[in-house]
Amino acid sequence: MSFKAVLFDLDGVITDTAEYHYLAWKELAESIGITIDRQFNEQLKGVSRISSLKRILAYGGKENAYSQAEIEKLATQKNNVYVQMISNIGPEDIYPGILELLKDLRAAGKKIALASASINAPLLLKKMQIAQYFDCIANAREANSKPHPAIFKLAAAGVRLDPSECIGIEDAPAGIEAIKAAGAVPIGVGRAEDLGDDIALVSSTSELTLAYLEQVWKKARS
Ligand code: BG6
Ligand code: MG
Repeated sequence: MSFKAVLFDLDGVITDTAEYHYLAWKELAESIGITIDRQFNEQLKGVSRISSLKRILAYGGKENAYSQAEIEKLATQKNNVYVQMISNIGPEDIYPGILELLKDLRAAGKKIALASASINAPLLLKKMQIAQYFDCIANAREANSKPHPAIFKLAAAGVRLDPSECIGIEDAPAGIEAIKAAGAVPIGVGRAEDLGDDIALVSSTSELTLAYLEQVWKKARS
């Protein structure tokens, strides 16, 4: 039997917003005397806003320097910068092959769900004009941060399926871990150095065709 749904991550899978999250965090971190780089940023990908900030504070040795209220304020500050950065995103910013994949999945009768940790995800789908392809957008506020499997379980439940009947697509180490823990079949967008060499990997989203997904599923479930 074939897979019944695809559970999509958004940032870094559907569009390039992973880069904006990084730049916004870098700016926020600098403002409090912490320098982060791309290598450290791998640990932030897929991780919720507050958890990301806590990781940055720990990285800078400032885990006890701020009250809960100050942490909330810093997180809001980062989000304001991020929201400004994504204000001009539109359909032209969808990664190669993604729109075709969404259309082909629908035509093949597969369900499509979003399993993003981002509270901004519904806004981004709207801006890219692809919200109508999604049968379910799992609510990031209701799930523990990846690598916890909660958001993928929620997304599968949203289309009335078990994660074991689904493929999950991710660009983040924490996201791949979450897909595995949920029991879905992972596909990584990125490098083996970051995501591991034990899963299907593509270097570009243009490789994410329906035929490729079918092939990955067959291999994983045979
Ligand atoms: C994830 C991103 O998708 O969403 C993380 O990979 C980000 O970098 C997280 O921190 C939360 O996003 P937001 O928009 O709710 O701050
Ligand atoms: Mg991502």
